[in-house]
Amino acid sequence: MEHTTYQRLLEKFESLYGAGETPRLFFAPGRVNLIGEHIDYNGGFVFPAALTIGNYVLIRENGTDLVRMAADDLPDTFVSIAIADMEKMRGKEWGAYQLGVLFELAQKGITLKGFDMLFYSTLPFGAGLSSSASIEVVTGFAVETLCGGTPDLRELSLLTQRAENRFVGVNCGIMDQYACANGKPDCGIMLDCAKVESEIVPLNMDGYAIVIGNTNKKRSLADSKYNERRSECDAGLAALQTLKPELTALCELTEDELNSLSAAITDETVWKRVRHAVTENDRVKRSAELLAKGDIVAFGKMLNASHASLKDDYEVTGKELDAMSEYAQTVDGCIGSRMTGAGFGGCTVSIVEKDKVDAFIADVSAAYEKATGLKPEFYVSEAGDGVRELTIG
Ligand code: GLA
Repeated sequence: MEHTTYQRLLEKFESLYGAGETPRLFFAPGRVNLIGEHIDYNGGFVFPAALTIGNYVLIRENGTDLVRMAADDLPDTFVSIAIADMEKMRGKEWGAYQLGVLFELAQKGITLKGFDMLFYSTLPFGAGLSSSASIEVVTGFAVETLCGGTPDLRELSLLTQRAENRFVGVNCGIMDQYACANGKPDCGIMLDCAKVESEIVPLNMDGYAIVIGNTNKKRSLADSKYNERRSECDAGLAALQTLKPELTALCELTEDELNSLSAAITDETVWKRVRHAVTENDRVKRSAELLAKGDIVAFGKMLNASHASLKDDYEVTGKELDAMSEYAQTVDGCIGSRMTGAGFGGCTVSIVEKDKVDAFIADVSAAYEKATGLKPEFYVSEAGDGVRELTIG
């Protein structure tokens, strides 16, 4: 964080909560998912990377039983609530994400204290880059640390996911919280969601850049459609279990195994959802092999195939994501492009030759704006570190 920003935030912190000890500063990144979409909740492999942009929190104990918090960049977000009343804020309002995490920390046996917090974000909100998970993870890490604990990052990922599932009411998988907690610079995270175990994989992107394109289409239906897709997968699993009772998750199947069980699924929509889950998991495993061999061009093709499957079988893309990704795939220097995150708006991720990035952005921006009437934004992204405390010298 730049020194001038830090000074400004310190002044704001003091004007909100009064002078006193200097607050501590923590950061958690957002994430981009390179491949492995909508399969974290089907026991699959996913391959996200943490970003260098994310959420910061300035935090200090206040010696009372109140939790007070505000966001620097969002007006009217001030929350002040007694620890004993936290549950009154269940839901999707700003503040519920952080309180859900405090609630889960208390469930785990941590004795909470009153804290003052000021949040500052460099991540676009609601764009599919995990702004929620980033807020949850930074809150959990900071509060557990200030309560005298030493956060275990795997446990923190699971705890913050529970907060989002149970307190906020979004039935997300483990990918986002895990990536925000466990990212490593210049690396992707090959996460086995069935075991919640990962391998850190260096992103040897020699000569290529990861370009994130924000469609600026708000993900309005995302929550309800997300839950609908999850139920369709559950229906698919239940149907397959009639022929294969030992199956516990869709991604345990190879495509051939799935085809041999096809008689179990009579609903065409459910079949398409299941086929996406199984083929996407296979694409992630193949991507890992391709990256290990340094075959980035073939990895790019996996991204294109992933987008097609998310469009045709999983049906979570929509006009804007299709317009941006499909056009990007045709641009000189771009070797692969797909939607990233939950879908229904939000962002795309493309792999582009480094010296063609500027031309790529100009070209895709113009074509996308013409097709949709929306102005996109682009971020050339580095893979960054996971959650941590920062010291400003
Ligand atoms: C959202 C969820 C994740 C994951 C993705 C889709 O980001 O929070 O758990 O399911 O959608 O891959």
